[in-house]
Amino acid sequence: MLQIIELSYQSLTNAEDLIIISDLDKIDIMREEDPHTAVEHYDSILQTRNSPRAFYGKALALLQISRNVKSNKILESAIFNFKEVLALGKIVPDALFRLAGDEAIQQMKFRGFNTQAVKVIQTLIHRFPEDPMLKQTLGVQYLIIGDNKSAKNIFEKILITNPENGFALVHLGFILKTQSGDNLHELEMGVSYLSRGLATRAEGVLEGNFFFHLGDGLRRLGRFSEADAVYQEGADLNIFKSFWQRSIYNVDRLKSQPIWTIDETTYVSNLNNFVNNWKIIRLEAEKIFKARKFEAESENLKDSGTWNQFELYRQGRKLEKNCQLAPTTCSIVEKFEAAKTNRRGQIKFSVMLNGTHVHAHSGPTNCRLRAHLGLVVPDNANENNLKLRVADNILTWKEGELFIFDDSFDHEVWNNSGDRIVLIVDMWHPELTSHERNTLPSI
Ligand code: LMR
Ligand code: MN
Repeated sequence: MLQIIELSYQSLTNAEDLIIISDLDKIDIMREEDPHTAVEHYDSILQTRNSPRAFYGKALALLQISRNVKSNKILESAIFNFKEVLALGKIVPDALFRLAGDEAIQQMKFRGFNTQAVKVIQTLIHRFPEDPMLKQTLGVQYLIIGDNKSAKNIFEKILITNPENGFALVHLGFILKTQSGDNLHELEMGVSYLSRGLATRAEGVLEGNFFFHLGDGLRRLGRFSEADAVYQEGADLNIFKSFWQRSIYNVDRLKSQPIWTIDETTYVSNLNNFVNNWKIIRLEAEKIFKARKFEAESENLKDSGTWNQFELYRQGRKLEKNCQLAPTTCSIVEKFEAAKTNRRGQIKFSVMLNGTHVHAHSGPTNCRLRAHLGLVVPDNANENNLKLRVADNILTWKEGELFIFDDSFDHEVWNNSGDRIVLIVDMWHPELTSHERNTLPSI
């Protein structure tokens, strides 16, 4: 054991550091117990020499302190010292360069410094051009910073040398599919890459997002039975909660059913407040609609027609300006804790004009339930010409009436009746604990 440690330490030690290796080793060992003193010792070495190991040890000590005292500032100095190792360039042994780079990336991502992380990955690729994992990491990091063009580029490059790289295939497919818009050729390419990539079962490909977009892409190409097979496969692999419920951000134990009664939600009086005031709510919605304040839905879910919305709350935040135009509606929301604090949902008016079809889709999370309150429903509307399908249930809207569904289940909307306005209220799934409601990241 001892020998292995010595060997690995040596692989981190360049010729200059070898001269002081026993000091460095001693400081490294005391670092666990006393990172503060270790920092002082590393610093005294760094006063007289550019020691890669001292920079690295200092970075690790600072990282440990930052965790103990929960300080971002100290974490940032740790990151700075990992970068110092990299800045020393050629004099740093390969193994140490790699360790410092990997740590820098991990800590930068944790701190949200995603663009800086891209630079470090590039530095590592420069040093280790043969390592395929680094290129994959760079591609993913480009996606994280929203640079899809560079991401596409790098995955294409990986596929030139390794055409069966499943990780690159699914990522390239994902990029093509999600940017395809009305471009059917690009959509087909995306679907084809996704499907080939998933078939490899390579590490990192069995992800909900890839099954989700492959199924969705196939559906949009009219290949429904293939889409269903993908969804079934995702369900069988426990990547989806079920064939119908395909949210990605889930809390596992929560009760899953497509349609809920008011009683089942437990939020009876809050929901009844909307019903009892529906006419005032409608007045507010109509006034906003007539003033042309609604905006187009932006998630590329619409197949045909017009589907616009006016948001009142987003991710648990009140949109003050918008609420000024809907004071009664927002005052009702204000009393509804599980809705106004829902960081995984929205509260909005939704208008759907005659001639609209919304592609089948499922919401991102099973942590919310979605109530719809009918405000304006055409006289001629019925379950054939104005309908919401949730899994294999058909719902329709009635003025002044409310229904609740779980939008993590596959759903689809058609309006061939007349113009329809509803109020949509997302609320926390009733089985979430208050701790979860306070800490789940927003969506
Ligand atoms: C949806 O949430 O997908 C739709 O039901 C919204 C709407 O306006 O009907
Ligand atoms: Mn929806």
